[in-house]
Amino acid sequence: MRIDIICLFPEMFVSPFSQSIVKRAKEQELIDIVIHNIRDYTRDKHHVVDDCPYGGGPGMVLKPEPVFETVAAVKQELKPDGMPIILLTPQGRVFSQQVARELALHSRLALICGHYEGVDERIRDHIATDEISIGDYVLSSGELAAMVIVDAIVRLIPGALGSPLSADSDSHSEGLLEYPQYTRPRVYRDWPVPEVLLSGNHSEIACWRRRQAISRTAKRRPDLMEKITLSDKEKQWTSENLLNLK
Ligand code: ADE
Repeated sequence: MRIDIICLFPEMFVSPFSQSIVKRAKEQELIDIVIHNIRDYTRDKHHVVDDCPYGGGPGMVLKPEPVFETVAAVKQELKPDGMPIILLTPQGRVFSQQVARELALHSRLALICGHYEGVDERIRDHIATDEISIGDYVLSSGELAAMVIVDAIVRLIPGALGSPLSADSDSHSEGLLEYPQYTRPRVYRDWPVPEVLLSGNHSEIACWRRRQAISRTAKRRPDLMEKITLSDKEKQWTSENLLNLK
C-alpha cells in the first residue's frame, strides 16, 4: 500500500513513522509513505501557502493553487485510478475502526492535511473525494490526524503486526472493547491474575474473555452495544450477569 501525505510540516512525521509498527511495515515494504511539502509547489518568491479570508475575519486560509499542484504531481507519478484523496478536517466524517478497515482495502491513498483556520473551499469541492475528522475537537494541524489514520491503517495490513491475530483482539475490532489482559507475575502486590487464565482450558478462557469484553463495553460504552450482534446465549448471560461483573 502507498500513502501520499500532502502537508505543510513534513518534519512532524519523522519520529512517529520511524518507530515501532509503522517502521517495521516500511522496512518490510508493506507500506510506502511519501510526504509532500505543499510549500514546494508554490510559484512565488516567498513560497506563500496561505492568505486572508475573502469577506474578512480572523486567521489565514490555505490557498488552493499549491494544494492542487501537489495533488497533480502525486497523480502524475503513477496512475492512481480511484485513489481516495482525503481532506483531514474537523468537518469530515468521524474516523473509526470501521473507516480504518475500509481505507486499508485501497492500494493507494492521499491525505491532505488542512491547516490554519481552514482551507479554501475549492480544495474541498474539487480535489478531495472524502473528508475525515479524527474526533470532535480541533487540532492545530491535520498532520496529527494523518499520523493517527496511518497508524490505524498500518496495523490492519496483513504481516504488519507480530502475530496475525493481534489486530483481531484489539478493542473495536469486533465492535467491542478489548477484554482485560494480564502477564507475569501471577500475583503482584496481593493482586492475583484471574484463575481461569491459568487453567489452560482454551474454551473457558475464550468464553471468559468474550464475557469480559461484553460487560466492559456495556458499562463503559453503552452506545457501542446497539451496534453489536450477540448470540441468544450471550444476550441471556448479559441480562442475568452484567450488574455483578467488574
Ligand atoms: N484538523 C484539525 N482538527 C482535526 C480533526 N479533529 N480531525 C482531522 N483533521 C483535523
